Amino acid sequence: MQSFDFYNPVHIVFGQGRIADLATLVPANARVLVLYGGGSIKKNGTYDEVLAALKGHTVFEFAGIEPNPRYETLLKAVAQVKAEKIDFLLAVGGGSVVDGTKFVAAAAQYDGDAWDILTSGGAVVNSALPLGAVLTLPATGSEMNQGAVVTREATKTKLPFHTAKVFPKFAVLDPTKTYSLPPRQVANGAVDAFVHVVEQYLTYPTDAPVQDRFAESLLQTLIEVGPKALATPHDYQVRANLMWAATMALNGLIGAGVPQDWATHLVGHELTALYELDHAQTLAIVLPAMLQIRRADKRAKLVQYAERVWGIRDGSEDERIDAAIAKTREFFEAMGVKTTLSDYGLGTEAVDAVVSQLEAHGMTTLGEKQDVTPAVSRRVLEAAL
Ligand code: NZQ
Ligand code: ZN
Repeated sequence: MQSFDFYNPVHIVFGQGRIADLATLVPANARVLVLYGGGSIKKNGTYDEVLAALKGHTVFEFAGIEPNPRYETLLKAVAQVKAEKIDFLLAVGGGSVVDGTKFVAAAAQYDGDAWDILTSGGAVVNSALPLGAVLTLPATGSEMNQGAVVTREATKTKLPFHTAKVFPKFAVLDPTKTYSLPPRQVANGAVDAFVHVVEQYLTYPTDAPVQDRFAESLLQTLIEVGPKALATPHDYQVRANLMWAATMALNGLIGAGVPQDWATHLVGHELTALYELDHAQTLAIVLPAMLQIRRADKRAKLVQYAERVWGIRDGSEDERIDAAIAKTREFFEAMGVKTTLSDYGLGTEAVDAVVSQLEAHGMTTLGEKQDVTPAVSRRVLEAAL
């Protein structure tokens, strides 16, 4: 196992009806800005519950944070924060709203050009406004981590940043608030969480059985509950387990002390920025091809993944690896998320475009061994056609 720091101060408030707890979770004297997306929270009752819980507070609103939140939009929220002297942010929605709110929290207290926050990967952030989250879409883990991803529309640049300053103070997770998700977003969430685990697990062995077995349990849980969430959308236990699995997949626990990959995500971000594909769609396209092209480096873990996650024990090592990659693809397809570029109407032009964006953004040494060069990314994308 590698040496590590593990720090996660997020207070998780989990269960049906827990939005009412906002009354005491949000500081009594705060000037609160409630940030949300395109209106799903108004249709499913979340908005009403949030405002009812905050009726003793001073509340302002910022609506319209897009999926894959836009830098340009978030700057408007920063202006409102300054104008209204806001001192607490409450994100209500999916990962995009939580990520966008983290950016607003940091940008509101940053003196220079806010774009520095993203180009520095978060290194320039010295302080941020406190924030809380009410999550309505289990997927990103943003509710319990220190990362966020923001897209600049003008240059089609999608960049992540990380800093402990933007850990939410609390996250309210009410599984019933996910009942209204369209099947596409349920599927996206399960696939995203699955790939988060894979990015931290499927690298090379470092004698870390705690991390490995936690990761395997999350993968098995997602394989089990993902299809059930589509089949029986109002099953509370299924939604609760999906929600907790997605949070645990990216809250730092399984990634502590082990190598991490993230090449699939970083290639995927370019596909979203260029072609507006959903985040999880890009992962479903890239991951099976990534595992195929890098199978020699990932061999030991691929064999372990085949056996422990999929129960594949027969055949040569190569046959088991082939079967595990095929099972992974089948899982994504069974969730309704297509797994090739051509499924989304993209061809070789997309390969060239993504590779040149990776080069332009300095994404030239990706992966757990920093050996995923643009040439390797090209082979991966070609294998995903
Ligand atoms: O905008 P509204 O109207 O709220 O609708 C949203 C949006 O259209 C809708 N939705 C959310 N909750 C709903 C609902 N519809 C009905 N009922 C509900 N309960 O779902 C749509 C997608 O929402 P979005 O927040 O974009 O999805 P997701 O949670 O998948 O977030 C994706 C973003 O997170 C980033 C991605 O890159 C992408 O920008 N990620 C953030 C990470 C992090 N912070 O750690 C890690 C991830 O790898 C990922 O990169
Ligand atoms: Zn992701």
